[in-house]
Amino acid sequence: MSDNNDKLEEAMRNPQNLGELDEADAVGTVGSPDCGDMLRMWVKFKEEDGKQVIDKATFQSFGCQTAIAVASVATEMIKGKTVTEALAMDSTMLSEPLGPLPPMKIHCGQLVESALKDALGTDKSPSIEAQEPQGQMAASLVDAIPQDDSNKGKIKIVPLEG
Ligand code: FES
Repeated sequence: MSDNNDKLEEAMRNPQNLGELDEADAVGTVGSPDCGDMLRMWVKFKEEDGKQVIDKATFQSFGCQTAIAVASVATEMIKGKTVTEALAMDSTMLSEPLGPLPPMKIHCGQLVESALKDALGTDKSPSIEAQEPQGQMAASLVDAIPQDDSNKGKIKIVPLEG
C-alpha cells in the first residue's frame, strides 16, 4: 500500500510528457462532468517495421494530481504501440505501474483512458468533448473549465514547461 503511494507520489512530483506536443498527429480532450477536471492528450506517430506506432504522447491537465500521475505513466507505456494495441488498454492497464487506484480516484484513470481514446478516434465513454477548434488549445482549455464556485479550490492548473 505505502509502496503504491510512493509510486503515485513520485509520478505526481515528477510527471513525464507534460505539455503540448508540437506537430502532433492526433489530439483528444475530455472532461469529467463530476469533478470538472479536464485532460488533453497529444499523440505523434512514427513508422516502425512497416507499421504506424506511437512515437510520443504528451498531455496537459487541468485536473487532479492522480489524473496527472496516471497520464504520466500512461504516456510512457503507449510508446511503440499501434493504435489497436493502445486502444486495447483500459484505465487499469494504463495506471498499472502506480498500483490500484483508491476507489475515489478510479475516474481519474478513466479520464486518461478517455482522452487517449478520444485522440485515437474511438472514444465511446461518457465524457465531455471540448467543442473548440484545434489551434487555440491552451486558452480555450482554460475557458472551458467550469467557473462554478463549487469547483473552486478543486481545480489545479499545471503550468506548462517550454
Ligand atoms: Fe476528477 Fe481526479 S479526475 S478528481
